[in-house]
Amino acid sequence: MRLILLGPPGAGKGTQAQRLVAQHGLLPLSTGDMLRAAVAAQTPVGLRAKAIMDAGELVSDEIVSALIDDELAAMGEAVGAIFDGYPRTAAQAGQLDAILASNGRKLDHVIELEVDEDELVRRIVGRYSCASCGAGYHDEFHQPKVAGACDKCGGTEFKRRKDDNEETVRTRMAEYRAKTAPILPLYEARGIVARVDGMAPIDAVTTSVEAILAGD
Ligand code: AP5
Ligand code: MG
Repeated sequence: MRLILLGPPGAGKGTQAQRLVAQHGLLPLSTGDMLRAAVAAQTPVGLRAKAIMDAGELVSDEIVSALIDDELAAMGEAVGAIFDGYPRTAAQAGQLDAILASNGRKLDHVIELEVDEDELVRRIVGRYSCASCGAGYHDEFHQPKVAGACDKCGGTEFKRRKDDNEETVRTRMAEYRAKTAPILPLYEARGIVARVDGMAPIDAVTTSVEAILAGD
């Protein structure tokens, strides 16, 4: 099974992807996570991407391609994969199609998380994650069961993303509307788009996504 989670910043792509990976053993591909790792490691790609990400703009297709070519080849061969934050432009959608086709694979689902943009700002500004294992949390909506300790690994260090401020979030949303939302009709024409109410509680969103996958 291969699925894309599509939606603006803060829609819940990463949250749902973590759950689907754990539940179905799918390989995760999050270009945002990969870019942040490249920035932290100060690789050539990371050094080029940093300022663009901090401004909330999309990095170039060329940078994304350099980052994920190897991973995409492995994804094409794997039994199942979940794409979070990729593809984000028509060129990237074409790249993904070509790689999957060369491995005799195809996309099964594109799930769009429908959300209210003002609420997303609240979500994003409250978001943080475990510095050890990356598990995601939120000041209001998703706190660790034991305060100050990660549910998954017990880690006690947490971090926040540099692009998680209101001004940058508004730019990221504008980028989504201008460059990413226009790829939806491509997938609609294939009859593989499903929409889920991303404003519902996290567990309810998971239930809706699982119902779509169970329909296969
Ligand atoms: P990326 O990392 O992909 O960020 P994004 O698309 O802006 O999305 P987010 O990760 O902010 O949100 P999310 O939908 O994952 O929400 P989450 O589950 O965390 O990209 C970052 C940057 O990298 C881009 O701006 C760009 O520069 C670059 N980039 C990445 N990929 C690229 C590409 N392919 N091409 C070009 N550039 C690229 O949820 C948010 C918060 O809300 C969490 O705290 C969560 O706990 C909470 N929450 C989630 N769901 C719910 C719910 N249903 N109810 C209440 N709270 C919820
Ligand atoms: Mg994310």
